[in-house]
Amino acid sequence: MKDLLRIADLTADDLTLLLELADGFEEEPGSAGHLLAHQIVPMYFAKPSTRTRLSTAAAVARLGGTPVPVGPGELQLRRGETIGDTARVMSSYAAAIVIRTFADTDVADLAVAAAVPVINALTDGHHPLQAITDLLTIQEHFGTLRGHRIAYLGDGGNVARSLMEAAALAGMDVAVATPPGYAPPDAAITFTATEADSGGGGFVLTTDPAEAVKDASVVYTDVWLSMGDPDGEQARRRKALAPYQVNERLMGQARDDAVFMHCLPAHRDEEVTAGVIDGGRSLAFRQAANRLPAAQAVLYALLTERLKGRR
Ligand code: CP
Ligand code: NVA
Repeated sequence: MKDLLRIADLTADDLTLLLELADGFEEEPGSAGHLLAHQIVPMYFAKPSTRTRLSTAAAVARLGGTPVPVGPGELQLRRGETIGDTARVMSSYAAAIVIRTFADTDVADLAVAAAVPVINALTDGHHPLQAITDLLTIQEHFGTLRGHRIAYLGDGGNVARSLMEAAALAGMDVAVATPPGYAPPDAAITFTATEADSGGGGFVLTTDPAEAVKDASVVYTDVWLSMGDPDGEQARRRKALAPYQVNERLMGQARDDAVFMHCLPAHRDEEVTAGVIDGGRSLAFRQAANRLPAAQAVLYALLTERLKGRR
């Protein structure tokens, strides 16, 4: 498997390997030597980013390479050069390409034309680097993934999708509660249900937040309005998603030892109360820190051709 575009391309063994590698890099950041010495990794970000941009840049640096940030206005793409031509040219200089953009088809086109690994750093549809980090964080906290229920509440967007796919692939019990009209895409539901069936975890898709958090070890949410969602949708989303806010009352319905997780950035007192995200049960900043070893693991695994993939 050359690229990391979405979680559903990974096998369960690939995911286990990535978590093992990330765990190793957390202990010993320099253990992979200078795999990327004298090489660059272009990082194309068409959307804002704090964590992904910096953790990926740090991961490239830890592997001995040089990250090169390129904004959408800095390449010839805006002047009509095709994604395919851009990918072919970049491949002559770069060891890998990191891309955050809107359409998944653009990232797929880039990956097909690129001779080097392409890493999806968030699209409208997926956020695989985040989901790998999230499982690393849960494993670190509870010591295991199997036997734990992860409850995701809120908008069924990119973060929800990658998280539910990864959690099911890892054999976790997955519960997703979204308002009508905000459910994850059918492909994500089918993948998660199939993995849950074969992997031993359960899968619940509901509109009832209380049903999702019952017996949950992890309660997870994301912003209600994602990058690329029209600003005009804000009021409608706030109204629809209000019952899915993660607050003290809802946390009280999960397991006694349940933790709260959020990919960040967070909007306090929208999708989560300040008391929950800043409280003792929140792993949100542990997740943010774990983005670095997770990014290092993904780069290492792709550069050394360690991932088998499904196709
Ligand atoms: N969680 C996450 O991807 O954050 P950034 O948008 O800041 O990269
Ligand atoms: N769903 C959010 C995640 C940000 C990390 C977005 O796409 O804006």
